[in-house]
Amino acid sequence: MEKIPPQERWVAVEQYIANHVTPPDPVLEAAREANASAGLPSIDVTATEGKFLHLLARLAGARRILEIGTLGGYSTIWLARALPADGRLITLEIEPKHAEVARANLEKAGVAHLAEIRVGRALDLLGELDRQGTEPFDFVFIDADKSNGPSYLAWALSHARPGGVIVVDNVVRDGYIVDDGNTDPDILGTRRVFEMLSTEPRLSATALQTVGSKGYDGFAFAVVTEENGRR
Ligand code: SAH
Ligand code: DHB
Ligand code: MG
Repeated sequence: MEKIPPQERWVAVEQYIANHVTPPDPVLEAAREANASAGLPSIDVTATEGKFLHLLARLAGARRILEIGTLGGYSTIWLARALPADGRLITLEIEPKHAEVARANLEKAGVAHLAEIRVGRALDLLGELDRQGTEPFDFVFIDADKSNGPSYLAWALSHARPGGVIVVDNVVRDGYIVDDGNTDPDILGTRRVFEMLSTEPRLSATALQTVGSKGYDGFAFAVVTEENGRR
């Protein structure tokens, strides 16, 4: 086989997969373009990852989805499309400008009636959801500041229904998570997430490494066991 640098091959294979399983989608492409025009960082999930989140939410039979970290709503659109007509998605974003771009993208995607964007620090907004007595979520996608990952995971665990699914993005980070000496708060946050996955009896978890246009990273997945006291 011809020698091709690994990263080039990973991107080519991602494109190959995308060509087969994610048909051209003007709505999603327009959202990405709107994000770029507005100067948002291009750190949204890829098309194949978005489709994967969408399929997971469908497999979970999700009717209520929580997303932490909206950016321009690219992943939000994929997740909202997994909901039934009376489903609901709440997505949390700290940057008003990101939320504004996302709002327009969700509108154009025809999912604005399913998805509510709340603006503020996710920890504050989760506290507010608590005070409002929010109903349990079936699916939680954690994709905001990695240093607060442990708090987001703890909240997700106590507000997911038994059998609910929790997905955490960016848990590999070029492999830095295995560097014991690394003191980057994002890496420390992610390592703490893995400790929680390892010790929390109410979660059954795994993580998968990914390569492609976003480099070398990974997702963690957890299912809340049926023994969860919350019903
Ligand atoms: N899920 C998106 C990408 C999210 S990028 C997608 O795949 O399309 C991470 C987002 O989290 C950024 O928009 C960032 O502004 C937001 N964020 C960072 N810290 C946050 C915090 N403390 N509370 C809420 N949102 C936060
Ligand atoms: C970054 C954040 C993400 O959520 C992501 O998927 C990729 C990169 C970042 O902050 O660099
Ligand atoms: Mg991410």
